Amino acid sequence: MQRLGFHMKHFLNTQDWSRADLDALLTQAALYKRNRLGDALKGRPLEGKSIALVFFNPSLRTRTSFELGAFQLGGHAVVLAPGKDAWPIEFELGTVMDGETEEHIAEVARVLSRYVDLIGVRAFPKFVDWSIDRQDKVLAGFAKYATVPVINMETITHPCQELAHALALQEHFGSADLRGRKYVLTWTYHPKALNTAVANSALTIATRMGMDVTLLCPTEQYLLDERYMGWARDNVAESGGSLTISHDIDSAYAGADVVYAKSWGALPFFGNWAPEKPIRDQYKHFIVDEAKMARTNNAVFSHCLPLRRNVKATDAVMDSPSCIAIEEAENRLHVQKAVMAALAGQG
Ligand code: CP
Repeated sequence: MQRLGFHMKHFLNTQDWSRADLDALLTQAALYKRNRLGDALKGRPLEGKSIALVFFNPSLRTRTSFELGAFQLGGHAVVLAPGKDAWPIEFELGTVMDGETEEHIAEVARVLSRYVDLIGVRAFPKFVDWSIDRQDKVLAGFAKYATVPVINMETITHPCQELAHALALQEHFGSADLRGRKYVLTWTYHPKALNTAVANSALTIATRMGMDVTLLCPTEQYLLDERYMGWARDNVAESGGSLTISHDIDSAYAGADVVYAKSWGALPFFGNWAPEKPIRDQYKHFIVDEAKMARTNNAVFSHCLPLRRNVKATDAVMDSPSCIAIEEAENRLHVQKAVMAALAGQG
């Protein structure tokens, strides 16, 4: 088990972690992948330990990979869905709780911390007011009151997906060094306005890894929140990579080594989605198809999943040898085991 270079209590965003510690997580994850039942599992770092997985939103990959990952490391996972099989939680301070919520995060996080050694949280935006959703109050509330490490299982970023994606790219290119690769993060059509979390995260990790990143989206309205654009600029300044904004499909795809697709809602319409619909409906041609992939440098394609086939990417792209989305999904298991082991081994 690789030790982190310093004690980091939570895993909320990769941007909070040093590059050396992210590299250590990726190295450990690769070890877990290579030695599923071998040396990497000796010591079972979660033996006798447990994790609460708190889901405010649905999941296939995250729930399965965290539950199994905890089990494979010798630990136990408890899955909770507040408002369904657990009490609805209040996150506002000083509020009179005479509405739907039954208990406050101040009690929830502290009680769970008496039972478990780690807490994972999935809490998507409410999609009403971005100025509120961008505060990430649910994750921040758990991080504030928990006395055990908290892991972001996707809120307004998706750092576990970032690590899985980075590992899949390192495997594909046969090198931990991704610098100099042309990376295209392309917006794609979806009938609904979706979370920007994976787009924020893809931009963050691709620039952190020093790639030459192009953010391809229909118009300026689809640019990401300034916090993440700023992180990307900071990362580029540090890594030596580059960041380009493009609204031109042909030039963005030209010579690309990586194409990563995601759909998201345009932030200026956040909470007022009706006027955005006719705008997004003009851009169905952003679908990733064979003709676009033919413009690339034999690029690898991926997506976080779930993906609507023939809306975001065609069957031909999804079924092509250049699609590594399944590999990336598998990597969720390995990187999350590395994160859980590192956090559980603190102090
Ligand atoms: N990519 C991802 O987080 O998948 P789930 O929503 O199924 O967990």
